[in-house]
Amino acid sequence: MAHSEPSASKAVDGGLSEEFAVPTHAEDVRKLMAEFAEHHGSAGRRVVLITSGGTKVPLESRTVRFLDNFSSGRRGASSAEYFLDSGYAVIFLHRHRSLYPYTRLYAGVNLLDSLQSESVKEDAGQILVDQNALPNIAKVLKRYQAVKAAGLLLPVEFNTLSEYLHLLKAAAQALSSIAMFYLAAAVSDFYIPAYEMPEHKIQSSNGPLQISMKMVPKMLSPLVKDWAPKAFVISFKLETDPSILLERARRALETYNHQAVVANVLDTRRGYVVVVTKDTQQELVLTDEEVQEEVEIEDRIVSNLTAAHSQFMSQV
Ligand code: PMT
Repeated sequence: MAHSEPSASKAVDGGLSEEFAVPTHAEDVRKLMAEFAEHHGSAGRRVVLITSGGTKVPLESRTVRFLDNFSSGRRGASSAEYFLDSGYAVIFLHRHRSLYPYTRLYAGVNLLDSLQSESVKEDAGQILVDQNALPNIAKVLKRYQAVKAAGLLLPVEFNTLSEYLHLLKAAAQALSSIAMFYLAAAVSDFYIPAYEMPEHKIQSSNGPLQISMKMVPKMLSPLVKDWAPKAFVISFKLETDPSILLERARRALETYNHQAVVANVLDTRRGYVVVVTKDTQQELVLTDEEVQEEVEIEDRIVSNLTAAHSQFMSQV
């Protein structure tokens, strides 16, 4: 046991600051996000915070092993592009090395295979790329450079669950009431508190491993109630059993009282989601033809939610 147990008094954030170490850069990141939101807000631009990718939960203080999950970050990265296309400024709170807007389109490409070696002009500092190896690269590069030049994308990385939780809190405190929160990250529900974690690498010579994990506080609750009560908050609900999906999505809406849940099933998440609000339930589906044409479901999700955001803002 590395640390002493936290006191019984829980803060408004469900014990977040007591049970999870605050990353040293959290305050700097909060300021950066606040400046970004202020800058774009004063230019009349809407801001969305996207969370993306999975979290890493350490099993040892000097971490050798950790618990991870399946999320590639594709949902968050592609959604970021569609929000940018819709005129939003985007804070992209993502897992280190998960998929990233625009570069995600070439995630499977070996960079060195896309360079034309016979055209290498080392002295001139120029190397030509093979555009067949990087489909649509000129178009994608133009979009990426325009976003970069206008400072419309603020990337913020997290690695561990603890970093994710604190940076989400920092984001919520930094953003004004016009912001949208689009919580697509796959966040662990379980963790081992620091005071129960072994310091050193768990030894296999001690036999089979038995671990007991605590429940992670759901950040949606303080986010909606305390940190950003006027924001437009979208959570995601992932299940593997389709028969319980909608009931769980509705239960989340009732529990947290936010604006919408995007419900998806692991195996079909690329082509089918249901956007659930208190009064509506809308299925978004890609046809086989659309899949062939490489239409992405995130295009549909983002246009559904940006329209709902407009309506929400016209009512406040
Ligand atoms: O990244 P991809 O491979 O493209 O996959 C996308 C996705 C399947 C990960 C995404 O579409 C998705 O469903 N993300 C949410 C998965 C999830 O963690 O669901 P949940 O039921 O555990 O959490 C529900 C909501 O509460 C989520 O919006 C989550 O961000 C939020 N949450 C979760 C845990 C926690 N401690 N605090 C939270 O606020």
